Amino acid sequence: MNEVLVATQHQRVLSGMRPTGLLHLGHYHGVLKNWVELQHKYECLFFVADWHALTTHYEETGIIADSIWEMVIDWLAAGVDPGDATLFIQSQVPEHAELHLLLSMMTPLGWLERVPSYKDQQEKLRERDLATYGFLGYPLLQSADILTYKAGLVPVGEDQVAHVELTREVARRFNHLYGREPGFEEKAEAAVRKMGKKNGKLYREFRRRYQEQGEPEAREKGRALLEAQQNLSLGDQERLFGFLEGAGRVILPEPQPLLSHASKMPGLDGQKMSKSYGNTISLREEPASVEKKLRTMPTDPARVRRTDPGTPAKCPVWQLHQVYSDQDAQKWVQEGCQSASIGCLDCKQPVIDAVLAEQGPIRERAEEYQARPEAVRGIIADGGEKARDLARETLEEVREVMGLDYS
Ligand code: TRP
Ligand code: SF4
Repeated sequence: MNEVLVATQHQRVLSGMRPTGLLHLGHYHGVLKNWVELQHKYECLFFVADWHALTTHYEETGIIADSIWEMVIDWLAAGVDPGDATLFIQSQVPEHAELHLLLSMMTPLGWLERVPSYKDQQEKLRERDLATYGFLGYPLLQSADILTYKAGLVPVGEDQVAHVELTREVARRFNHLYGREPGFEEKAEAAVRKMGKKNGKLYREFRRRYQEQGEPEAREKGRALLEAQQNLSLGDQERLFGFLEGAGRVILPEPQPLLSHASKMPGLDGQKMSKSYGNTISLREEPASVEKKLRTMPTDPARVRRTDPGTPAKCPVWQLHQVYSDQDAQKWVQEGCQSASIGCLDCKQPVIDAVLAEQGPIRERAEEYQARPEAVRGIIADGGEKARDLARETLEEVREVMGLDYS
């Protein structure tokens, strides 16, 4: 396993979501709740991955356009706060496309063909023609998304970890190719002197300990020291990150995946909640419809009559209790079901109540935003501006180290 190369801005978090339809409770429990938590801890950027949606939905772009604003409203309704996080639309920051193109020049084809989701998705989505250049390249587009902001942490599900791993490989390759500038050692030495006597000495000490003893802790401390330096230019900081480990300049830092510990949200049939299984409850579903779906959802098939005892482990309703109910209520289900002292509708009621209670404030906030579409547009316009400022900075640097800044 490779040692983790912690990013320069390890506190920056980036994540995206495809606009391909209404969000459901699976998105809420699996992703949005996590975003809401992260936004208080880190500098967060969350974006609408419309170009990603195009890689599979290029024949029906209408779905994308229709989903974008509703999705942003879903985010806001779920508690994503534009005061804490930067929200934007991918295609409104063209730098993602520029970096994608530049990275594509140095990305071996095999790296993309080996990404597990490539073959999986092609098989799953047989009705679409996915033998396209864009579909093959979509994990690299994701790498460009991440590296454009030099994000250190990427909240993803299991299925996306391989994409972050690809990003790390691509960043390493980029740094290897373009972080070797003429006179690197001299420039690095000069940068150490700029840190002042005391800090320079500390830095050298950490560098020696890391390179001679291989102490990961010394490297972490060296990095922290560099991050605290106010008087180093970005270029010098990058040189010294690389110099610390005996490598070249680190222009694009390697991100790490941030796996959320949220358990999989079960759908109405006990499989993972997913649009393709038709087992979802949408985030803002009408209460009457929520109630109907839950009342009619399947239970332990062995419990035919009210007097038959059941086995919660074989029942999708039990899985929902594990998400929504406390210990006492869970005990009530276990005992009541196994002794046939409660009926399935009794058992479902607390879940119905909990889902409705969860959705209440979400629905309310969504209505407020729906009534003010210009406010939503404004949030995205502001976020886009912030994102473009960050992206422009990275791309200027990328062009410079690649020798593309002709003037
Ligand atoms: N590929 C992700 C998905 O399909 C969405 C995504 C695009 C993303 N770019 C990203 C997630 C960058 C995290 C970081 O769900
Ligand atoms: Fe499922 Fe509850 Fe009915 Fe048992 S009582 S089968 S857990 S719905």
